[in-house]
Amino acid sequence: LIRVWSIPTFLAVLLTGCAGDKSILDPAGRGAADVALVWWGMLGFFSLVLITVVALWLYTFRPRSSRARTAIEEKRLARRLILGGGVLLPVATIVVLMIFGVPAGQRMLPVPLGTPPDVIEVTGHQWWWEVRYPGAEGGEVVTANQVVMPAGEPVDFHVTGADVIHSFWIPRLGGKIDMVPGRTNRIRLEADSPGVFGAQCAEFCGTQHAHMQLYVKAMERSDYEAWLAERQVPTLETLAVQSDAHAPAREAFVEYCAQCHRVAGLAVPDSQWELAPIQGPDLSDIGARPTLGAGVLAMEEGAIGDWLRRHQQLKPGNRMPAHLGLEPRTLQAIGDWLETLSP
Ligand code: CUA
Repeated sequence: LIRVWSIPTFLAVLLTGCAGDKSILDPAGRGAADVALVWWGMLGFFSLVLITVVALWLYTFRPRSSRARTAIEEKRLARRLILGGGVLLPVATIVVLMIFGVPAGQRMLPVPLGTPPDVIEVTGHQWWWEVRYPGAEGGEVVTANQVVMPAGEPVDFHVTGADVIHSFWIPRLGGKIDMVPGRTNRIRLEADSPGVFGAQCAEFCGTQHAHMQLYVKAMERSDYEAWLAERQVPTLETLAVQSDAHAPAREAFVEYCAQCHRVAGLAVPDSQWELAPIQGPDLSDIGARPTLGAGVLAMEEGAIGDWLRRHQQLKPGNRMPAHLGLEPRTLQAIGDWLETLSP
């Protein structure tokens, strides 16, 4: 019985690879469609290779003919096998793969275009993503762990690493590209239509590599521009609620958090920045982000406070020190204040 069920179970497990927000088999952009085509081409081609090899293997079990081959015939056969199986077949395979693969890779290269595409800069950190929009009208926009991009047009991603090598990968939009410290790599990706896509660091970068997820949202050009514009005015200035209720939390943030984290518009003594030992995510719009800790917690009411208390259990080894000297009440207050930072 186990054997009978194992086949459909195996196939069902295989099919789970065909959907989901990180499936290369469910492309949502040209680059990913090319990659998927190469994948299906390889699957078809190598299935043929497998069938051929198995057929040849089965062929060896045939009853031997009575007539033995002469030495010359043996030699000729051996030469044919080496030439065919060792030279012609591999060359043909590589040529076919290159016909599929080279143009696919080429289309993701950021060659100059008539209208230069928008540039989004993404830096990989252990273990989070820094995302910058340097060309945004009205000044650079900085956020973290989420990418918002226009749909239906190419976008150039300039990626680098801050500490170790990471890899930027939005499977439904295209291939992956390494984020190497000291170097900027470029990839051009395009989302066919608005949607939400999963992304993941694709290069092992330490213990929390799996918790290095990125949320990608493609929207219409006008929505994208409105999204950028919203972030150009520091949330602190637009929020009336920043009044006295949150003042103690804000002061605690300046004292304990602002050495590593920035909130646009929040005045921080210069001396603190000089201390800055490590850089943490910019928190200016954290209340509007879908997750915390690069995909560890969903952003819900009270989640930031929870994260501040338990982050070393939820994501052990992350660079933020455990806040042992701070009262849970203070942490929750800081979290509650941060949650209001939503444009
Ligand atoms: Cu960053 Cu794996």
